Formats: sequence, C-alpha cells, structure tokens
Amino acid sequence: MKIFLDTADVAEIRRAAEAGLIDGITTNPTLVARVAGDRDPKDLYREICDTVHGPVSAEVVSLDSDTMIREGRKLAAIHDNIVVKAPLTEHGLRACRALTREGIRVNVTLCFSPSQALLAAKAGASYISPFVGRIDDVSGEGMQLIHQIRQIYDNYGFDTEILVASVRHAPHVVEAALLGADCATIPPKVLWQLLKHPLTDIGLDRFLKDWKSIGKDL
Ligand code: E4P
Repeated sequence: MKIFLDTADVAEIRRAAEAGLIDGITTNPTLVARVAGDRDPKDLYREICDTVHGPVSAEVVSLDSDTMIREGRKLAAIHDNIVVKAPLTEHGLRACRALTREGIRVNVTLCFSPSQALLAAKAGASYISPFVGRIDDVSGEGMQLIHQIRQIYDNYGFDTEILVASVRHAPHVVEAALLGADCATIPPKVLWQLLKHPLTDIGLDRFLKDWKSIGKDL
C-alpha cells in the first residue's frame, strides 16, 4: 500500500521523505491555508514537488467544470507530479473526464458513498478519496466504505486507485492495508504513531544497558 502524507507543511514532508517513508503527498485548501501565509500557493506546490518524489495532489477551488478544467491545467503545468484534485460533484466529474482525456491525472475527493466511487471510476479518475474519518465522525463505518469500493472496483476491473483519506489513527491505516486499499494518506502525527510501540522502547533500553555492562565499544 502506498503511503501519502496529508499535509502542505514542507518541513514535515522533508522529514518523512528523507526517512524514505512516503510515496507522495495530498493537500487540500484547508491544509494549504494553514501554512501558505502570504506565499503564492503555486510556489508552495512547486516546493512540495521538489521535496518528494511521487504524486502531489493539488485541489481546484471552483464549482463549475469549465473553471475547474482551467484551474486543473494550471495546476498540472506546475510540475509533472501534480495530480489535480476535483470534488465529487457533477461538475467535478465532468472536469475529471476532460482533464483525464488530456493526460492529466485526477484525484476525485470528498467521496462518502460507494455509488459516488463508482461514478468517479467511470469518469476516469486516477484516484478516489473516500473520507473514512469524517464518516466515523457522524457515527458511520468509514472502513465499510473502503470494503465496498474495493469489491466494486475488483468486480469490474476499474484501475482507479483507492486512496483512503481523512485518516485519524493507526488502526485506520492497518485496516486500509488489510482491505487492499491502494494508498492511504496520513497526517504527519499519525505517520509517526505508526512506528511507535512501547515494547520496542523497553527492549532497546534493555539491550543498550546490557551492552554497556560489557564495557567495550563496537
Ligand atoms: C485528503 O485528501 C483529505 O483532504 C484529508 O484526508 C481530509 O482529512 P480531514 O477529514 O482530517 O480533514
């Protein structure tokens, strides 16, 4: 399963990329607004693309397909690794179809149902982003949606990649992998939680203490 970092924070991206832990980045307007300050977002996207090798999702910010297509072309021109993110609306799917025909990859976002995911695949999406955390927030079963989309895409051989989004904790990531999701996009805090285990820390502490008792360096 590919792991994307769900952030526009370049310092966080650099740390994870240098550790060799991530395959790409997803952003959204909220994440960009959090870090952009008075920078042009296009410069921020360029810097992110120069920091990580892999797809970088950058979202359109209009409601009609013609403007989305224009924005999508501008975003795609920033760097070869840009994937245009479009919302799961009629206009978003029209834009997805048009941009895909031009060879621009599209990540269809804000997916909350299997029927939406089916239509995104029909529109030629490279990625579908089901928001599992936001479904859990309203007492739904976010991971059930991943299971349903996996089955639908496998039934018909759609090659749209399932990109599990709105990930809130480590079990979301593990379950996504068990269900055969293609990718999960993870906030930095959750990425680092994935590698923590108290028994690892206790075990390491013990090994180092015992080694010290030998009194020799390697
Ligand atoms: C990623 O593509 C989404 O924009 C993101 O995962 C949303 O996460 P949130 O529900 O924590 O805002």
